[in-house]
Amino acid sequence: MKINVTLVKGALTGLTVMAGLVAYSSQAQALTPEGMMVRGGQLYDWYYQITTGDIQTGTHVSMPADAGQTGKKTWRCSACHGFNYAGDLGIGGILGASGKSADEIIAIIKDAKHNYTSDMFTDEDFQSLAMFVSKGAVDISKLSGDVKKGQGYFETICAACHGNDGKKITDMPPVGAVVNKLPDRSLHRIRFSKPGDSMPALSALPLDVSVDVWSYTKTLPQE
Ligand code: HEC
Ligand code: HEC
Repeated sequence: MKINVTLVKGALTGLTVMAGLVAYSSQAQALTPEGMMVRGGQLYDWYYQITTGDIQTGTHVSMPADAGQTGKKTWRCSACHGFNYAGDLGIGGILGASGKSADEIIAIIKDAKHNYTSDMFTDEDFQSLAMFVSKGAVDISKLSGDVKKGQGYFETICAACHGNDGKKITDMPPVGAVVNKLPDRSLHRIRFSKPGDSMPALSALPLDVSVDVWSYTKTLPQE
């Protein structure tokens, strides 16, 4: 509205600018492959922190009864497939779907064992989840990084928020404590960020960068 009012000089100029804005805003909505990868990684982790769609509150049909988990958290992909992507709770992982096409993966997450619907996820969300499953999830069981390089990355990328000792954000435990307690989830969040929090995601950079930072953070003070 405001833009329109200040552009009354000539209806034509106004219309041209408006058309330009419309074209720009529709372009800005389409995520790049890198942006989709991060969106997919976050939806996998904890979709209801960031979704614009429906949030399920009942227990997921594939959650084993003896797992002791009920309610909305059972709909997090990570609850069943883990942050090592190799599976949790006796359910297999997602690494078997590495490299599969988006259509194949989307068919799996819409199947009767999964039941994710378009009331929950937009088309772009489904594409983003598929991108993450196909290309983002990797076997992390044998990864180890260069601690010295990781320190350089930490002091330049992370320390502004976390401090050089990882203790500056006081409403969470020290970074060193979190990473040692939950190493798989921490690497996931270094790559894809913590859903709903103001963390950068490193996944557009080579995997080595995240692994180096991760290895260094394990050496930070834990209290
Ligand atoms: C409540 C548990 C549960 C949740 C939550 C869940 N899954 Fe699954 N998933 C399963 C089960 C069970 C299978 C089938 C494993 C089998 O065939 O034995 C499966 C299989 C898969 C496979 C096929 C793996 C392969 O090796 O081919 C993919 C990919 C997958 N899930 C992705 C997802 C994604 C993405 C999400 C979140 C949007 C998700 N799953 C959420 C239980 C779950
Ligand atoms: C812009 C600020 C910012 C930057 C830069 C940043 N973080 Fe964070 N980080 C946060 C916030 C905010 C949280 C969530 C705090 C909370 O849970 O209360 C967080 C949480 C974390 C957590 C805990 C995640 C969890 O599972 O709860 C780890 C580990 C972490 N950051 C590591 C890093 C590393 C490593 C880097 C550099 C690659 C980094 N962060 C860069 C703001 C930042």
